Amino acid sequence: MRRSRFRWWPPGRVGGAREWRERAAAVLVQPYAAALWHYPTFRADAPWYFARGAGARLWDHDGREFVDLEMGLGPVLLGYDHPIVRRALRRHARTPVVGTLLHPSEVEVAELLVEMIPSAQLAVFGKNGADACTAAARVARAATGRNIILSSGFHGMHDWYIADCYPGPGLVPSFAGYVKNFAFNDLDGLARLAEAYAGDVAGIMLDPANRETPREDFLPGVRRIADAHGALLIFDEVLTGFRMHRGGVQALYGVTPDLTCLGKALANGLPLSALVGRADLMQVVDRIFYALTYQHDSVALAVSSACLRYYRDHDVAGEVARKGETIRGLFNAAAAAARLSGRGVGPPARFELDFWPVGSASTVDQQLVFFRALLERGVLPVRVVLPCELISDADLEQVQRAFDHGCEQVARYLDSGRVDAPP
Ligand SMILES: Cc1ncc(COP(=O)(O)O)c(C=O)c1O
Repeated sequence: MRRSRFRWWPPGRVGGAREWRERAAAVLVQPYAAALWHYPTFRADAPWYFARGAGARLWDHDGREFVDLEMGLGPVLLGYDHPIVRRALRRHARTPVVGTLLHPSEVEVAELLVEMIPSAQLAVFGKNGADACTAAARVARAATGRNIILSSGFHGMHDWYIADCYPGPGLVPSFAGYVKNFAFNDLDGLARLAEAYAGDVAGIMLDPANRETPREDFLPGVRRIADAHGALLIFDEVLTGFRMHRGGVQALYGVTPDLTCLGKALANGLPLSALVGRADLMQVVDRIFYALTYQHDSVALAVSSACLRYYRDHDVAGEVARKGETIRGLFNAAAAAARLSGRGVGPPARFELDFWPVGSASTVDQQLVFFRALLERGVLPVRVVLPCELISDADLEQVQRAFDHGCEQVARYLDSGRVDAPP
């Protein structure tokens, strides 16, 4: 790492980690990252803010250095401060982010997507993955004149989806009832659901590979069911796009959807998403309401153009899979050595570190012990591993030490019988 020749934080200029946390808690509703939402007792110990990042590492304002295995919930596929991204940002530094005219980087990115993603004939851009998913649902409904979306996986924070899948305060009740969930890899369940709403199914939207890898017959079967019901097939590749294969899961498994939602790695962490798909369906975008002030953001598009050319010409997904495989193996070995039931579940490019409840020790109890131990060894707490290309051998050695220590601590905690009071 470049640590020794990099003076990352001028001493005395602003406060350390504690000061930032206090200032944040006074003015922010969500002053810490999403990963800490579910672990209130752990928040006081965990770092909240980074001062800088490089490769697979983040530094906090006390100079503590951490290996990051989650990479901002997945978008940073290449790594922090990657030369490709840095060069694109430098080249683009004096270009307006948005203007009354558009910037041609948008054309370049659309051309690259058409070249790389099998379902892409036309493209339109957004900021968040949710923008693309909402646009896809709206296109499906407008194109078919139907209402129901059959869904598997998470598709973002907008009301059309949340009203059914995460119902809570702040939603209009009448929005609910139009999204019906099916279980991944359950073709019979999907077929039954499609039959139950026959004539009103606008689209089938799914995250095509999550912690479960699709069975061989699953994606072709979903394609067949969509066709049989005259519904659009929509792959939500917000997380899988470029991470599992440069052409998405659709290229990996040879099943082409009608529409594809992209986001996250599209610009290696700069905010950019896209809806791509069959030309006749994409033309429907002009009939629905679709307009965002920042959909033509030239900085994110210029970075995306550089990233996509890099993904096209280098086997980033292959490299990430190899590194993910190593990390998953390290976790499984550490858990086995400590005689824990913990296991890495999912494909190497996106897997979860699972701990099963033991007696009265819940999954969360064990995670809390594990997370604290990771921090002690300089690895950020992680539940979903989303490796980046730049993770180095030194990072992996540190991860191994942290996993070994973490699993030993969980085992000690379980053996101690203090299962009702995690430390
Ligand atoms: C599969 C999938 N779709 C959609 C989204 C929503 O993306 P965003 O948070 O950028 O709106 C996510 C986010 O995690 C996702 O994983």
